[in-house]
Amino acid sequence: MEKSELRSEDIIKRRSIFYKAFSIYGEPAGFYDFGPIGLAIKRNIESAWRKVIPEHPGFIEIETTTLAPEPVFKASGHLSTFTDPIMVCGSCHAGNRTDKLLESFYSKKNDKAAITALRKMDLNGMETEIKKNKIKCEKCGVELTGKVEYFNLMFKTHAGQGTSEPMYLRPETAQGIFMDFKELYRLNSLKLPCGICQSGKAYRNEISPRQQLVRMREFTQMEAELFYDPNAEFSKTLLGEYAKSNHIFDTKILFAASGKEPDETTISELVKSKKVPNEYFAFMIYKDYEFMRSIGFEYKEYWFREIEKEELPHYSRCNLDVEVETSYGTIEITGIADRGTFDLQSHSKISGTDLSIMNAEEKVLPSVAELSIGLDRMLLAILDKKAVDDKERGWKWLKLEKAIAPYDYSIFPLQKDDKLTEMAMKINAHLRKKGLKCNYSDSASIGKRYAKSDEIGVANAITIDYQSLEDNTVTIRERDTAQQRRVKWEAIA
Ligand code: GLY
Repeated sequence: MEKSELRSEDIIKRRSIFYKAFSIYGEPAGFYDFGPIGLAIKRNIESAWRKVIPEHPGFIEIETTTLAPEPVFKASGHLSTFTDPIMVCGSCHAGNRTDKLLESFYSKKNDKAAITALRKMDLNGMETEIKKNKIKCEKCGVELTGKVEYFNLMFKTHAGQGTSEPMYLRPETAQGIFMDFKELYRLNSLKLPCGICQSGKAYRNEISPRQQLVRMREFTQMEAELFYDPNAEFSKTLLGEYAKSNHIFDTKILFAASGKEPDETTISELVKSKKVPNEYFAFMIYKDYEFMRSIGFEYKEYWFREIEKEELPHYSRCNLDVEVETSYGTIEITGIADRGTFDLQSHSKISGTDLSIMNAEEKVLPSVAELSIGLDRMLLAILDKKAVDDKERGWKWLKLEKAIAPYDYSIFPLQKDDKLTEMAMKINAHLRKKGLKCNYSDSASIGKRYAKSDEIGVANAITIDYQSLEDNTVTIRERDTAQQRRVKWEAIA
């Protein structure tokens, strides 16, 4: 059952980690702004992703436009298939997602068979069920009696004065990568298998934005497309060498087979049992595991869920969703998709430019394995899962992995005093020169300042007191244990 509060809701609000955009004007919903702490954590998650994925040998990162003309989305399939079924309320005219309304109706009755049947239900079937069960409009509560229709989720606009061909805000960053692939391959001396990555905004005109960062209309994706020759044996490629020498396929993960609970397995078991199409796809599972580990997730805190055929996105032959349990219930934070040659083939056809490349003197149209991570959802999952409700300490705090904490150190002169301030500023400059990020505060009691530092996940606080002026030592207090030790400040790294 869906709950309405994250475990760190109070911290999120108090510290403006994220908040509704343009709230002074009210609507529309589904847009969020990020305050300094939220932005710093987001950037750190992105840096962790960059280290593990775009900076992997054979991978590159690019940036493409967020707007693209109509033929791009004709080729990608989004124009015809990126739709949600909706029924417009006859009274308040709000659009209602009929699949979601029915899902919630059946869940309340614990009718699992109906939920399964819903996956294959067409528009007429949904309309009959909505009317038969007298389901009401989510917004105004009036019974729904209209028609169920498909609604395209892309935002449409025009370049110039509006007489030109329509353009759309991209619903995924991936299309820019597919369009540029051939030129990037040539100009960057890439060899198959190779990865092209992009982090950036994507847009979906969700009918019912909900659960804060879970379903937004403007959000950030971190996507990586691995291009490979489907006829080339993985073990004979550079990635294959990397996988073998680092034993990456022995990695333990949780896997939830279709309709089953998550269970422990290894990546190589998934390949052997043909639960995943090939080792290239398996490599992307490992990259996700490595990324998750770098931002502080144990492998038992999330799982890879097999997606049933009826639920596959239009471009995918096989999908694993990465899921975590949060206060909002299970949420999908990442998708791994076997896109095959769908996109390159389609762009070749619609654009008239053959996107196949020469690889080892053979013409190849590469296949693609995609790892697509939702950055905002990842932040939300972290803020929920890493919140510690510390009764002993008397305050709630975030147990963030050091790599993603908004600051490396909090710096606290014991009290307002020119000599303490001078030394604190000297230490601040020393740490900044080392590339470390510090948070400075000289107001409130030291206990309150520790609480404020803990609650945003800073791993260590440095306190400068009068002894510091005598012997150049400071106190370092650790967030996780609340223990303190004295060290020479010049030795802090
Ligand atoms: N590129 C995959 C997605 O946007 O879901």
